[in-house]
Amino acid sequence: MKKLNIGVIGAGRIGQVHIENIVQRIQIAEVVAIADTNFELATTISEKYSIDHAYENYKELINLKNLDAILICSSTDTHSEIIIEAARAGKHVFCEKPIDMTIQKTKEALSAVDASGIKFMVGFNRRFDPNFSKVKGEIQNDKVGDIHIVKITSRDPGPPPIEYILGSGGVYMDMVIHDFDMARFITNSEVDEIFCKGMVRVDPEIKTAGDFDTSVAVLKFVDGTLVIIDNSRKAIYGYDQRLEVFGSKGMLGAENNKADNHFYYDENGKHESLPLHFFMQRYTQSYLNEINEFCESVFNNKIPPVSGRDGLEAIRIAMAAKLSATENRPVKMSEIE
Ligand SMILES: NC(=O)c1ccc[n+]([C@@H]2O[C@H](COP(=O)([O-])OP(=O)(O)OC[C@H]3O[C@@H](n4cnc5c(N)ncnc54)[C@H](O)[C@@H]3O)[C@@H](O)[C@H]2O)c1
Repeated sequence: MKKLNIGVIGAGRIGQVHIENIVQRIQIAEVVAIADTNFELATTISEKYSIDHAYENYKELINLKNLDAILICSSTDTHSEIIIEAARAGKHVFCEKPIDMTIQKTKEALSAVDASGIKFMVGFNRRFDPNFSKVKGEIQNDKVGDIHIVKITSRDPGPPPIEYILGSGGVYMDMVIHDFDMARFITNSEVDEIFCKGMVRVDPEIKTAGDFDTSVAVLKFVDGTLVIIDNSRKAIYGYDQRLEVFGSKGMLGAENNKADNHFYYDENGKHESLPLHFFMQRYTQSYLNEINEFCESVFNNKIPPVSGRDGLEAIRIAMAAKLSATENRPVKMSEIE
């Protein structure tokens, strides 16, 4: 059996997660090349996993003849350009979220994908988390009936460095975008209108950077479902990732994953372990499932489970959210191109 040959562009935090999963846990694919502008990092990681090629310039990786697919795990501002080049070279693409920070560049990248006929998938890993995919499956089994309200809680254990925030596109494009995608995934509907209140409650520097660290969003979907998303850049008890789906037949939900399941009662009450600390711990299984699905799609010539349109819609919602929070008013999705 010939394995898929994969190249990874960007060997930072998330690139290393995907590399390790493919090298150690996926039988049908192998990583044959890495490119990172930090060449020392590319070399270190390629040596660690015995990968044949390490490049400083991603164009050399794209030009490799025997490459089947590329994972784009570099900084967001590089994604759309790399997608276009990879598509023109006929390589299938998995791209980390978001595709780009502008709608125009996202559309240009997706046009190149369509013109080339390559397979394309966006990295909304939470769809592949066992908790949330179980909830989705039970919705499809009609366990909640008509969905009336969805509540998503998504709070980080601490804010990233201010330099990261400055280049991130803001909290809605960088962080809440995962929750916007989760809302579309759960409701299987599209957003009609959004109202966001964004505040700075954690770090005044984030205000200086023109961003928010605390937000509540209310989304009305075209089918009438209401979704409430609450976010914070800092929850002192760890990474808080919960979901509740309320409908005509009942309520479904997912609690946090904790380091262990023990509990202890004393005169002060019940004590238990905190939620797993951050996304690298909490979403380990989702990253493996996600990249396995991408490899399977390419290997078996199937349509990947997260489309370019999913990527584009999440970006549109993030833009509407930012506009709503900035102008302090409800925003119709029809206002966003
Ligand atoms: N799905 C998720 O849960 C998740 C989690 C983290 C990050 N991300 C996304 O993944 C991307 C990378 O994030 P990260 O946290 O791994 O960042 P990171 O800074 O840790 O890694 C990015 C790497 O890309 C390299 N790079 C930058 N420009 C490059 C270029 N032109 N060619 C090759 N390499 C280049 C950098 O040197 C760096 O090593 C971002 O788009 C981010 O939004 C997704």
